[in-house]
Amino acid sequence: MRIEIPREFERLGAVRIYGLQKVYELDAGGSPDVIARDDGVVRSLPAEAIHEVQRQMAIVVPVRSERLKLIESVLVGIPNPCLVIVVSNSPREPIDRHFLEQESIANFCQFTRKQVVIAHQRDPAVAAAFAAGDYPEILDEAGLVRHGKAEGMIIGTLLARLLGRRYVGFVDSDNYFPGAVNEYVRDYAAGFLMHGSDHTLVRIAWHSKPKIVEQALYFAKWGRSSRRCNRALNQLLSAYTGFETDIVKTGNAGEHALTLDLAMAMRYATGYAVEPHHYIDLLERHGGILPTERGDMRQLVRICQIESRNPHLHADKGDAHVADMIVGSLATIYHSRLCPPALRSRLEAELRQAGYLGEGEPVRAIRVYPSLTQLALDRFAAGMQEILDRRIGATAPANGAPVHAGHPA
Ligand code: GDD
Ligand code: MG
Repeated sequence: MRIEIPREFERLGAVRIYGLQKVYELDAGGSPDVIARDDGVVRSLPAEAIHEVQRQMAIVVPVRSERLKLIESVLVGIPNPCLVIVVSNSPREPIDRHFLEQESIANFCQFTRKQVVIAHQRDPAVAAAFAAGDYPEILDEAGLVRHGKAEGMIIGTLLARLLGRRYVGFVDSDNYFPGAVNEYVRDYAAGFLMHGSDHTLVRIAWHSKPKIVEQALYFAKWGRSSRRCNRALNQLLSAYTGFETDIVKTGNAGEHALTLDLAMAMRYATGYAVEPHHYIDLLERHGGILPTERGDMRQLVRICQIESRNPHLHADKGDAHVADMIVGSLATIYHSRLCPPALRSRLEAELRQAGYLGEGEPVRAIRVYPSLTQLALDRFAAGMQEILDRRIGATAPANGAPVHAGHPA
């Protein structure tokens, strides 16, 4: 892959947010020495180096009631070296959609000879593992893991940790183009190769989202939610640096990857607020602003943003769904301890004017989970063993990786 170096970054405390990086070649060939050359404005990353990172990566695919053909097309796009983890929250009754998913994935595994770890979010065994790990916050009144994309991502992250992966990436399961999925996972690896593998978060800004406008294909750049979310995050940054900025282009990036150490240390917001909350959590804890945070400004946390070349075409979930996402995104910024009063008033006015808040209705706080380091990993691992053993296509631990609760090698 050939990719440009970031032209700029904003720095707050230990957090560096890099400007958007463009991809110039999806495959830049294989010469092994080019990665070391650091003099130009672009870096050429050999395919073998990309694969080496992918061998240490798990890709988590969250699923809720997607068409089987779409799920399969996503699996087709995930590069072979990656471990695949599917976390489903599809209904089991009146029709057992999850059973159909399992069958379809088993069929895929038979043809590809791949292993896929598959867990159901509402499986009582998963809930029991969280209870045993002393992490009850994720359980609802029925004692099961709460509904929501973030909750599925948390399960996937922990499975990646138990299977000893160094990186975890996410791709939505409703993507029509396997080629786009394939590119996202290459972009993740490129991000880690360029920015190091300590505390790095790689986020994808979609090149475009094709839609039909006046009977013609139109390649829209920004979605309704990402437009508002990016603006609010940039205003938050500007409030502290004193310089207006538009550096944040990936406030809502569903497609993102993290080093496992960073993923375990983060606090996640519920549902679709999870992605904007990454920024908030990192700035609250490492931004050098709040007196309660860690004082070490040398341990950098890098947020890298890569613009994919493929257009993103996914299932249309309707206006109400977009509204939920907008309210969730802005609420997570509104309720941050970092949000200055002027920005808070502006966000509230924005939500009210757009009709997302009723008369007198407050901006409701978003549930935030404690960092996964709070979970007793050994006890959680014991509870999850049954799910790991049920791996589809597996006769031995995936790609030879050990199942353990210790630190990845
Ligand atoms: N496990 C699990 N549990 N998966 C879920 C759940 C859940 O409760 N709810 C949704 N998903 C899955 C969906 O099946 C899909 O694969 C993925 O999570 C994203 O959900 P969508 O409903 O398709 O969201 P979207 O396309 O509107 O938004 C996506 O892009 C946004 C950026 O524009 C998401 O990735 C957002 O998180 C992201 O902010
Ligand atoms: Mg979608």
